[in-house]
Amino acid sequence: SFTKMEKEPITVLVTGAAGQIGYAIVPMIARGAMLGPDQPVILHLLDISLEALKGVKMELIDAAFPLLKGIVATTDVVEACNDVDIAIMIGGIPRKEGMERKDVISKNVLVIANPANTNALILKEFAPSIPEKNITCLTRLDHNRALGQISEKLNVHVSDVKNVIIWGNHSSTQYPDPNHAIVNTCSGEKHVKELVHDDHWLQTDFIDTVQQRGAAIIKARKQSSALSAASSACDHIRKNSGTWVSMGVYSDGSYGVQPGLIYSFPVTCHKGEWSIAQGLKIDEFSREKMDETAKELVEEKSLAYSYLN
Ligand code: LMR
Repeated sequence: SFTKMEKEPITVLVTGAAGQIGYAIVPMIARGAMLGPDQPVILHLLDISLEALKGVKMELIDAAFPLLKGIVATTDVVEACNDVDIAIMIGGIPRKEGMERKDVISKNVLVIANPANTNALILKEFAPSIPEKNITCLTRLDHNRALGQISEKLNVHVSDVKNVIIWGNHSSTQYPDPNHAIVNTCSGEKHVKELVHDDHWLQTDFIDTVQQRGAAIIKARKQSSALSAASSACDHIRKNSGTWVSMGVYSDGSYGVQPGLIYSFPVTCHKGEWSIAQGLKIDEFSREKMDETAKELVEEKSLAYSYLN
């Protein structure tokens, strides 16, 4: 038969849709990379430049995506937010070489661009009608970067590495934790620590490289990461089964992290709900790093409020 039952479309808002990450992510969403290959989508695109948005809309039409059922391209926030199922808040001023992510705080506090955790926290505090569970920030980019570094070091495929953790802030204080990471090998699962044989690398270069990857990309590209940010945002929204992934979520006090921060934890996802993976052993080295990044989040929170008052 020619009539196949189609799913109802899901409406996705992308803010900063004509920017670098926006331009990379909209075709991914329209191709099903975020919501699946049989899930129709309607895109709501918000940006400050209508001209640039019109160009993106023309290209989306020209790409003839079978899953794309509608496009609203607008500079009007209310129109953009109307009837939205998922909001991907990318719009913001990216940092330049030599800046830390918190240096863009004064411009970005109402969006989930950088500083991502604190922007998500401010959004949560000023949008009380949105359940706090529904507001998360992206640390899957850092998570994927950590997987990538281990895969390069061990010369294994990235899809065979799992269970890294990004703790804390999406900033240079984040703690990429390899202690629980596992690699699938032909003789079964092996701990990364056992395969790397080099605690020094795991505690120094590995951590530094992941913490500084955003800055390294800005230095090389003269622009901040876009394709990897877009791709990991699709991974973040997509169902993840079997193991944990890293996500910035509202802290409930798990692992001794002060409640009320948006802090990156290992989370498992089930039927569209995340929960923090519990019971992992934390050694002294990790504890110190986890506290350090929490401290920075407390500082960012008061900095954000100082701009708002
Ligand atoms: C990244 O990690 O690539 C982004 O947060 C951009 C940046 O400022 O580093």
